This record gives sequence, structure tokens and C-alpha cells, in this order.
Amino acid sequence: TSVDSFYEQVGGEATFHRIVARFYEEVAKDELLRPLYPEEDLGPAEERLRLFLMQYWGGPTTYSDQRGHPRLRMRHAPFKIGPAERDAWLRCMRIAVDEAQLAPQHRERLWQYLEMAANSMMNSWF
Ligand code: HEM
Repeated sequence: TSVDSFYEQVGGEATFHRIVARFYEEVAKDELLRPLYPEEDLGPAEERLRLFLMQYWGGPTTYSDQRGHPRLRMRHAPFKIGPAERDAWLRCMRIAVDEAQLAPQHRERLWQYLEMAANSMMNSWF
């Protein structure tokens, strides 16, 4: 973990923990997203997303140590992700990112990535 990574600049694990926990609070209440999650307990999914984002932004590589190469499109293939699911995912994430109160340039950079990533995860046109 480099001291000048985006991961460190935004506050390290605590910040990612806060954002992803808040995101899953919204997912738990979302009638479109919640049924997509195969497990009753959202805790393990929360941990995987947190570890993935930490690794992506230059933090520890625990995600890949545990899960191997991310292959995120492949891992999302079992779930229908169309425009409505993407919008719901981004709605939940928007709340989580806004509440994290990052510096504007950090918020902007994170949000750009999340929008791009959510678009690239779509596997359905409807
Ligand atoms: C896993 C839904 C976008 C990262 C999952 C799972 C679902 C899901 C249902 C399985 C839960 C589990 O891990 O047990 C969605 C939907 C999206 C979306 C509806 C809408 C666009 C994204 C994006 C990212 C992401 C944009 C990354 C920036 C992950 C990761 C996992 C995961 C890291 C765990 C993969 C693994 O190691 O198995 N997602 N996802 N997802 N998602 Fe998403």
C-alpha cells in the first residue's frame, strides 16, 4: 500500500468500510436489487465489494489473495443487470459516496469510476 495511493488519500480502510456498509444498507431495502443476492446474509457480499474496491484503489490485495483475478463481468453473469438494475445500484452507491464527504476531487474521481464500472457490468438491454 503506497502512501500516495488514492486508497490512502481518502482515509484507507475506514473510508471504504463506511461507504460499502452504507451502500449495502440501501441494497437491503431495494426491491429490485435485494432479490438478486443469493445469500440471506449480505455480510459476505459487503466484504467482497469492500476488499475489491480497496485493492482497486491501491490498498491491500486481500481481495485477490482470497478470490483470485476479479473477472467482475464473468462473476456478474448469473444476475440479470439491465438499465434498471444499474440505476438502482448507482442510486444506492450515490447515497453512500455522498455521505462519505470526500474532498470534491476525490469524490469526482471515485464517482466517475463507479459509473463506468456499473455501465460495464450490464449484461441485458432491458
Ligand atoms: C458481486 C450485483 C455492479 C463489484 C455481486 C453479486 C451481485 C451483484 C448480486 C453477488 C453477491 C455476492 O458477492 O455474493 C451487482 C449489480 C450491479 C453490480 C446489480 C449493477 C451494476 C458492480 C460494480 C462493481 C461490483 C460496478 C465494482 C465496482 C462486485 C464484487 C462482487 C460482486 C467485487 C463479488 C465478486 C466475487 O468475488 O465473487 N454483485 N453488482 N458490482 N460485485 Fe456486483
